[in-house]
Amino acid sequence: MASRGNFSGRIGFIAAAAGSAVGLGNIWRFPYETGENGGAAFLLIYLICMVLIGFPVMVGEISIGRNTQLNAFGAYKKIGGAKWGLLGYWGILSAVMFLSVYNVIAGWAFAYFVQMVNGTLSATKNFGEHFTSQIADVSDLFFYSLGFMVITAVIVSRGIKKGIESASRILMPALFIMLLGLIGYSFTLDNAMEGVKYYLIPDLSEITFATVYNALGQAFFSLSLGMAALVTYGSYISKKENIVTSAALVTVTDTTVAFLAGLLIFPLVFSQGLSPSEGPGLVFVVLPGIFAGLGTLGPIIGAAFFLLLCFAALTSTISLLEIPVTFLVDEKGYSRTKVVIFTALLVFLIGIPSMLSQGAVDYFSNFAHYEGITKTVLDVVFDIFSDVGLPLGGFLMTIFIATKWKTANFNKELAIGNEGYMGSFMQKYLNFALTIFAPIFLGLMFIITVLKKFFGVNLF
Ligand code: PHE
Repeated sequence: MASRGNFSGRIGFIAAAAGSAVGLGNIWRFPYETGENGGAAFLLIYLICMVLIGFPVMVGEISIGRNTQLNAFGAYKKIGGAKWGLLGYWGILSAVMFLSVYNVIAGWAFAYFVQMVNGTLSATKNFGEHFTSQIADVSDLFFYSLGFMVITAVIVSRGIKKGIESASRILMPALFIMLLGLIGYSFTLDNAMEGVKYYLIPDLSEITFATVYNALGQAFFSLSLGMAALVTYGSYISKKENIVTSAALVTVTDTTVAFLAGLLIFPLVFSQGLSPSEGPGLVFVVLPGIFAGLGTLGPIIGAAFFLLLCFAALTSTISLLEIPVTFLVDEKGYSRTKVVIFTALLVFLIGIPSMLSQGAVDYFSNFAHYEGITKTVLDVVFDIFSDVGLPLGGFLMTIFIATKWKTANFNKELAIGNEGYMGSFMQKYLNFALTIFAPIFLGLMFIITVLKKFFGVNLF
């Protein structure tokens, strides 16, 4: 078999995996989920989910990938036989569907960046209306989303080291620096501290079942878990690496970026006396209005912000596209370039109904009705393949480790590159978290969430 390529070492893997994790989930989704679910109370539950579920599930996925050195399907099949291979297929299908909508939203970010640079956005009077008409205007967005997919495809076609790793090594630090600069600025505004309080001082009475399942869904979305993205990336790391440390660093980086995004956005929102529960439009409606009020610096800060959003999204779309690409290269032996062109095009086409569902075509915009509201195609795809699908994928992965691969083999893999692992507290913690706590918790959450979302049955 031709060499599959590898990350060059620990930093390369961490940059790429952190690049996958840090994305629209941190900067676009995390602040609006926090704003819709009670601020600091949500942040608290989110942090707990990261430690108790997110981190162990990440270690699980990476270890399956590194053990087998195979794509998602190949990895589950190699250890668990044909039936478990289906779980790999599910991951690949989720990645394709998820990327199809993710790329649409990345297209919005790309459009906003261009409009910040060329002055269209600063000239806008009503940002809410602008956002609504912008996401409905597919004549424009078609090209932005296509452009985003093309850039993703070019990087993925260059392979693991030259493409994915080098892009992440530049984009990730750039993102951190931009974020810190913007936060520094937002803190100087009047009333900024009100935003900080809302974000950091929890009101525990705000915690409901919805807070927990939204926080859990957000943790999976943000850490790129549940669809074998990290099985895939894990398959490209060497046996010298310490998986536990790498996963810990990725989790911390991802959490830090989400935390910083909140620290940027809530002071801005409160300084303008606006509502934090603006929903998915938060970043796109509230922020341009704020940038416009900043005088001559506004367009520059705004352009930096949307560029940052594009960078973050790009390192995630790269990892999403890599999932089906690795599968087709490993299993079918096709050339990487051909596979990349085919998959990118396919994913883009699948995303078109979602793109048309934001006001352009009524049928797609009013596609379904549940949870008491009308859902667009984009909502439905995210509901199935993200909110419900990712924790489901994580649940099945934990069952796989506990019953098929067995904890002893999982531990053996983790001990490679990590001398002190056997018998350590970390070993006991990961074994408990992955084989007892996570399966029970995720299994229950799955049942309750499906009943609530799709059948209107409220157990809590
Ligand atoms: N974690 C990415 C984000 O936060 C999204 C993602 C999910 C990427 C799953 C890959 C796999 O935006």
